[in-house]
Amino acid sequence: MARVLVVDDEPGVQESLRMLLKEDCEVVTAGNADEALAAVDAATPDLVILDLVMPGRSGLEVLSELGKRGVPAPVIVLTATKTVTTAVEAMKRGAADYVTKPFEVDALRIKVRRLLEQGALEREVARLRDEVARRQQLGGLIGRSAPMQELFRSIERVAQSKASVLIRGESGTGKELVAQAIHQLSPRRAGPFVAVNCAAIPDTLLESELFGHERGAFTDARDQRIGRFEAAAGGTLFLDEIGEIAPAVQAKLLRALQERVIERLGGTAPIEVDVRIVAATNRDLEASIEAGSFRSDLYYRINVVPLAIPPLRGRREDIPLLVDHTLARMAAEGARPVEGLSPEAMELLQNYAWPGNVRELENAIERAVALSDRLVLDPVDLPEAVVDGARVSTLRDQVRAGRLGFEEAVVRFESELLREALEASDWNQTRAAEQLGITRRQLKLKMDRYGLAQPGSDPHLPV
Ligand SMILES: Nc1ncnc2c1ncn2[C@@H]1O[C@H](COP(=O)(O)OP(=O)(O)OP(=O)(O)O)[C@@H](O)[C@H]1O
Ligand SMILES: [Mg+2]
Repeated sequence: MARVLVVDDEPGVQESLRMLLKEDCEVVTAGNADEALAAVDAATPDLVILDLVMPGRSGLEVLSELGKRGVPAPVIVLTATKTVTTAVEAMKRGAADYVTKPFEVDALRIKVRRLLEQGALEREVARLRDEVARRQQLGGLIGRSAPMQELFRSIERVAQSKASVLIRGESGTGKELVAQAIHQLSPRRAGPFVAVNCAAIPDTLLESELFGHERGAFTDARDQRIGRFEAAAGGTLFLDEIGEIAPAVQAKLLRALQERVIERLGGTAPIEVDVRIVAATNRDLEASIEAGSFRSDLYYRINVVPLAIPPLRGRREDIPLLVDHTLARMAAEGARPVEGLSPEAMELLQNYAWPGNVRELENAIERAVALSDRLVLDPVDLPEAVVDGARVSTLRDQVRAGRLGFEEAVVRFESELLREALEASDWNQTRAAEQLGITRRQLKLKMDRYGLAQPGSDPHLPV
């Protein structure tokens, strides 16, 4: 039941409001400003009915205080007929409505019900909005496509266990973000997240990087140094590009994972470490095992839970979200404001194959924002490779995937050729026709059939 706080110094008014509202809500009363604020602190009401004229601090002061504390409950102020100007002041300070005393019972009851319903509705909308937002984002990962939703669920599930996870995905698909999300959602989130890029560290240094070394362990080891395993104790160790590790280090890593102890280089005492391992690779590890460059026993240790991130071209509905996300991030970083992309530009992005996945998409957007001065980005602002790649691949791929009928594809191909020729010739039909090797009359007929006209001109007027 909704909770209504009645603030009035006259016990008679308190009592009649209680009688009036007790069917609809739970009524709490206060006789002055201090009692009112104490009641709000004790339990946030859904609605406040507030007398403006009270001994001590006035109702207006209470109103301002509620605003300062961010109390979301709407306020109906009670006022004597002669102080309507005070009621106006109250509305300015955020009161939702006012009622003059002596009040009409039905009018007040209707106002109370209306405000309570409105509040319930607003809370419901906020809840739904939250839910939608949650579904499209997990940690730093954005995605509403079915494969990403599936991945989000897997991440939430594996985060709860300590099992080793192997993340697979093409370059730029967000392997590092997945690793971070697993850590953030896990019971170890308060512990460290330590990332090691195994490909970026020379073989000779990787071992001491991972396990640390004692003073004097090798020529350059002037001091004792703890490795990434120890640094990640109690948290998560992310071994990125694990497919690049040299065989000698693979053996040591296997031992560390099996026995949950490590030894610093030049050290003698084994050290117990409690880390959760998340590894990632864009290599075909199975092929590396076949070729003898990756140990199969290590593979089984790290691949307890495999997670595959789908390439971007397999989840085109995520592209608009990722574009918005990138634009919002750039705006927050102080880039010039951009409203979005024209429908044509967005369509090109959705039809391009994105071999570099999300990273390539982010770069394309960043480049377009930097190089163009338009508020709404157009195809000309996009990298040529994207535009060309999208135009040729689209139709063929769409027909093959069964998303576009043959006849429709032919029509689109023809009208695209025409549009390109017209754009290239500044909409000079004679030159465009020449370029295409057709007569001007043929061109005109096709332009009419496909509704092609120079932007800004009226297609129905003879040219
Ligand atoms: N689903 C996603 N939502 C938001 N941003 C993403 C998503 N996937 C990738 N990114 C962004 O794309 C870029 C590349 O991501 P990340 O570095 O995690 O890729 P990766 O798979 O590790 O690539 P590589 O194999 O090349 O190292 C980052 O800027 C990352 O923030
Ligand atoms: Mg990476």
